[in-house]
Amino acid sequence: MVELNINNKIVRLDVSDDMPLLWVLRDVMGLTGTKYGCGIGECGACTVHLDGKPVRSCSLPVGSIGNQSIITIEGLDNDPIAQKILDGWVEKQPTQCGYCQPGQIMAAIALLHEKEKPSKEEINRALSGHVCRCGMYQRIRNAIKVAVGSTEDE
Ligand code: FES
Ligand code: FES
Repeated sequence: MVELNINNKIVRLDVSDDMPLLWVLRDVMGLTGTKYGCGIGECGACTVHLDGKPVRSCSLPVGSIGNQSIITIEGLDNDPIAQKILDGWVEKQPTQCGYCQPGQIMAAIALLHEKEKPSKEEINRALSGHVCRCGMYQRIRNAIKVAVGSTEDE
């Protein structure tokens, strides 16, 4: 039995300690907004927040999480920074197939939680490990710039 704090709710689940968080989110909890891409920590599609920091849930055994807060793309309702990022996404439309987008959005929100107005270099660094097979990198960065109040496109 593992106890987790997911999207501000405590849940007790009959899963093994070594099950990756991504499997618990998608297959046990039905929170399918978090995506399975590579399964080996290389693409960023499975990114969620753990105590506010972006982590790759495909490579995180649930037994290692303890009482840290897990926030998924479904758990952003009361987060004003998330709303700014989503507004940027609406304005710049960086979505094509959409598969990478929950991970990109979670990484962007975590960045803005850490720093209200990150530089272009800091944005690039925070998003650098996030693969987009549709090649929407430029628009994704422009969406984040909208969220930080910059009018300068790449
Ligand atoms: S699915 Fe987790 S990093 Fe690719
Ligand atoms: S929008 Fe298709 S993978 Fe990024």
